[in-house]
Amino acid sequence: MSRDLMYSDEIQELVVDAYQGLDAPGGPGTRFYTDEQLAAVPAGAAEWALGVGAPLAWADLGAGEAVADLGCGAGIDTLLAAALVAPTGWAVGVDFLPEMVERARAFAAQAGADNAEFHRAQMESLPLPNASVDVIISNGSINLSARKSRVLAEAYRVLRPGGRLCVTDLTIREEELPSEILTHPSAWAG
Ligand SMILES: C[S@@+](CC[C@H](N)C(=O)[O-])C[C@H]1O[C@@H](n2cnc3c(N)ncnc32)[C@H](O)[C@@H]1O
Repeated sequence: MSRDLMYSDEIQELVVDAYQGLDAPGGPGTRFYTDEQLAAVPAGAAEWALGVGAPLAWADLGAGEAVADLGCGAGIDTLLAAALVAPTGWAVGVDFLPEMVERARAFAAQAGADNAEFHRAQMESLPLPNASVDVIISNGSINLSARKSRVLAEAYRVLRPGGRLCVTDLTIREEELPSEILTHPSAWAG
């Protein structure tokens, strides 16, 4: 586990700028999904797929489960999860950018996913009670946090005993990078 590094406010500002400035990203994350999954979500949700994998391939979701998606973006994984846990389960997506939350809510409405909800919040401070979800998923987002230990502590707090954490993300071995890169804020958003 990486230690929390310095410059966390500056890193967060760079991440915000990088993702707020996106326009028509073209679905770089769609290559990780099956044709059936892509057909099951609104076209806009696929266009805004920005992840680096497909965490649901390993999450083994079942009907009735509660799922939280950390750094959900426009919500492709949240929507797919909501369909897998329906009708009694629910999925909640959390993202700190209002633009992403608005997109995700619009795509959920298009999909008729009334068991999916989205909150504007930080992964480092989840708007969820203790021991309230069965599964946490996250796709390409935790790497962007300058406080990764805090994100994982929050995940542990909101998971029920026996819950699952299923993350697809970028990882790096700190010892393989020079410190001027490790401590350079723009390396985070990039
Ligand atoms: C690479 S995108 C991935 C989005 C989505 N998981 C997907 O697969 O399309 C990263 C997302 O994480 C969000 N994010 C980054 N840092 C965050 C934080 N500390 N708290 C909440 N959201 C964050 C960004 O706003 C962005 O929407």
